[in-house]
Amino acid sequence: MKIAVLPGDGIGPEIVAEAVKVMKALGLSMDLNEAPIGGAGYRAKGHPLPEETLSLAKASDAILFGAVGDFSLDTLPRELRPEQAILGLRKALNLFANFRPALVYPELVHASTLKPEVVAGLDILIIRELTGDIYFGQPRGIRTLENGEREGFDTMRYSESEIRRVAHVGFQAARKRGKRLCSVDKANVLDTMQLWREVVIEVGKDYPDVELSHQYVDNAAMQLLKNPKQFDVIVTGNLFGDILSDEASMLTGSIGMLPSASLNEKNFGLYEPIHGSAPDIAGKNIANPLATILSVAMMLRYTFNQGDVADHIEVAVKKVLAQGYRTGDIQEPGAKVVGTREMGDAVVAAL
Ligand code: IPM
Ligand code: MG
Repeated sequence: MKIAVLPGDGIGPEIVAEAVKVMKALGLSMDLNEAPIGGAGYRAKGHPLPEETLSLAKASDAILFGAVGDFSLDTLPRELRPEQAILGLRKALNLFANFRPALVYPELVHASTLKPEVVAGLDILIIRELTGDIYFGQPRGIRTLENGEREGFDTMRYSESEIRRVAHVGFQAARKRGKRLCSVDKANVLDTMQLWREVVIEVGKDYPDVELSHQYVDNAAMQLLKNPKQFDVIVTGNLFGDILSDEASMLTGSIGMLPSASLNEKNFGLYEPIHGSAPDIAGKNIANPLATILSVAMMLRYTFNQGDVADHIEVAVKKVLAQGYRTGDIQEPGAKVVGTREMGDAVVAAL
């Protein structure tokens, strides 16, 4: 198991260190190689995705990624900003299928801002297309019009084959779970999204055992708050998936709990927490490392076919929550509030 470890910026190094601690405690033979990325890549090598880091990623079986983003570099030209590192990796490695599960642990039902009865027992999976859409569409830019006014523009686009392959991923995932797939689009306004819907319906003919439904993204955003348990698997485009997955994370109490997997067709994967670099709390030993630790479980399950070891990690996380350990983001009266390192230690002890 050759794994590229890319901690990145802000809280990235702290949370990745805890995940690495857990990986080492598993007693598996893992070859871990660290490299700078994001703002750290820019500072070390002059580029957010340095050549050496990309080669290391390509030569590995999987990537453990922390987070990128650094406000002090936001004035750089876009191609040098930290975010380009993760976008570049997704594109270069063709990581088109992004799995973002949102699971409510019984111990954290009260950490959500929603009523317990709305979120208790929630278990949904958002599959976000990750290499197309308005994120990568050309042309894009900021231009000056004849009247001297500036105009910003981006291009939303999806080819049929891009929609088809992620739709298959969605149906196959639904088949392994509750057999219900909701495709989220904006077919009432956008042509790209009308094609999205048509192609998803076509692909659905191969999966008569999966119940397919469709929602417009504005309605889906509302339904996620109103009655999130109506969903099993959601499949959606890059931009809508970015937004809906942040929304879904808050059903679970904290964005600090949500892992993710970004896969290509060979099950090569990049594994990362869905949260960002949180520069405001960086270096304070208060960030929640559980999303990153749970991302290691996803890595073992999806890339290395070690579902049983993945189960051990997930059970250990449940155990530390049941023991009352909480980082600040999920704290509640009576809980043992611990720091990033202590939470990592607690998971290792539970393992
Ligand atoms: C995410 C993040 C990224 C995205 C940023 C950091 C580029 O928000 O992974 O959801 O927009 O995809
Ligand atoms: Mg996001």
